[in-house]
Formats: sequence, C-alpha cells, structure tokens
Amino acid sequence: MVESESSLQMSAQDFLALRDFVYSKSGIYFREAKKYFLENRIGKRINELTLPSYREYFNLLQGPKGLQELKFLFNEVTTNETSFWRNPPQIEAFQNFVLPEAVAVARKRGANKFRIWSAACSSGEEPYTLAMICREKDSLLRGLSVEIMATDISERVMKLAMIGQYGSYTLRNLNPGQLKLHFDQKGDDIFEVKPELKELVVYKNFNLVDYQGYRSLGMFDVIFCRNVLIYFDDVVKTKVIAGFHEQLNPKTYLMVGHSESISNYTSGFELVHFSMATGYRKNT
Ligand SMILES: C[S@@+](CC[C@H](N)C(=O)[O-])C[C@H]1O[C@@H](n2cnc3c(N)ncnc32)[C@H](O)[C@@H]1O
Repeated sequence: MVESESSLQMSAQDFLALRDFVYSKSGIYFREAKKYFLENRIGKRINELTLPSYREYFNLLQGPKGLQELKFLFNEVTTNETSFWRNPPQIEAFQNFVLPEAVAVARKRGANKFRIWSAACSSGEEPYTLAMICREKDSLLRGLSVEIMATDISERVMKLAMIGQYGSYTLRNLNPGQLKLHFDQKGDDIFEVKPELKELVVYKNFNLVDYQGYRSLGMFDVIFCRNVLIYFDDVVKTKVIAGFHEQLNPKTYLMVGHSESISNYTSGFELVHFSMATGYRKNT
C-alpha cells in the first residue's frame, strides 16, 4: 500500500538531493529551514503519482520521464503570490515617471514598438496591471505598438493568466473605476480582463535560468522582475541580472521587488529614487 502524504518522511539525504536538483533546474534555492516546504509540496505530487518515497520521485526526475515531470515539479516548488497594483508606490512611479521617460527614450531611438517584460508574471496580475496603465496612457504611447511579454516557469499559473479571470481579493488595490473600465463581470465574484488588455499581453513559458534563451525574447524598454530574485542565490541573481541588462535598451529601466536590491550584482544600472519606490536605470 502507498503511504499517505502525511506519513511520508523526507530524509536529510533526500532533501539535499531534491534541493540540489530543483536549484540546478530553476535557480530556486531552499535553505535547510525550508525543508518542510519542499517536503509538503513534493509530498503532494508523490501522492498524486502514488509513489512510495521521495527517493522514488528523485529517481523519476532523473529517468526517461524526468523532462515531462519537470513542469509538475516547477508548479509545486514555486510561490506564486501576486496581486493587481502590487506595491502601489512602485506602480505609480512606473505610471508617472518610468513609462513617460522610457517612451521618450524609445521615440528618440526612432522605435515603433514599445516592449515591456513581466519576467515571472505568475497568474497575470502584474502584466495586466501594466496593460491597464498603457491603455490609460494611450495618448502618451500614440504611434507605438505596445507589447507586454509575460513569462513564468510555472505552466499552471500561466494558464490562469491566459484565462484572465480574477476574484475580488487579488483585485483589492484597484478602485471601482478601474474595475469597471478594464474588467467584465462574469459572475458573483468573477471579473474577467477585457479583450483590449488581453491583446497587449503575449505569454511565454520561460525559465530565468535559461541564460542562452534571453536573446530570443528580443529587446525591451522596461523589465519588471519583482519578488523572484529572493528565491535565487547570488550566483543565479548575478546571471539573471546580466541577462536583463543585455535585453534592455540603453537608459531604460529594471524594476525589482521592494525588498530586493541588485547593487551587489551589477554595476550596469543606476539606482533611481521615486516617492517611496526605486527603480534601476541602465547606464548606457
Ligand atoms: C511571488 S511570484 C511574483 C509574481 C509577480 N512578479 C509579483 O511580484 O507579483 C514569483 C514567480 O516567480 C516564478 N519563478 C520562480 N522561479 C522562476 C524561474 N527560474 N524562471 C521563471 N519564473 C520563475 C514563480 O513561478 C512565480 O510565479
């Protein structure tokens, strides 16, 4: 009989093997104190697969079906917490300063496209927040075709993002006017992003440790990578930030989470202060 999720134990050795495997494939690093998290999340998957142990799951990941299983592993080991208009001072800084400045830089360059990357977009709240702002600023962006590229490692959350239906909890930072303008109410507590926003967003499953793949995404005028770097160690942070630097047009911005700083990992950006928020402007 297969043991239930709660009766399975992850040994210290299995923890180290699975932790190192997750790190090598995703850059997500679990300290010893997070053993319970990995044990619970992977335990859920082991239960679904009716496997007898963590060791068997590790063997599965390394075997011929490993590649196929990776996407389920990524769904389990990621933390996907997000919301619309998350960290309002930073979103307002984007709306009032970063976007106008980046548009001016793009126009000066003679661009006809304006591209934003929501790197690690989770279930879509961040890219749709940016899309709302771009729609509201359509006169600022006149003549430029806008594309918001939204990427994540977890296919599960990206599917939710593409559907674009949300409940009031994740919408809590929006005012009634924004809700009315950008959403269609589909049920008691179901609000769907309007097609005008959906059409600005392009989704792609992308792993931030796929360093060779960055170039294929093209160049951007702003990159948002918020609340993701905290899961990476210094080696991965340095490489990811270097990737963003490469894909940003000169004098454009990288926006990271409010508890995240990139200053120790790069000299390619200048820290810019806004009211209660910061951003990083590429030097050249
Ligand atoms: C806490 S959410 C942040 C979502 C959004 N950026 C925000 O600030 O609200 C972190 C997201 O990072 C994604 N993630 C973690 N590691 C990743 C990787 N190596 N490549 C791409 N996405 C990753 C997770 O799947 C998750 O959706």
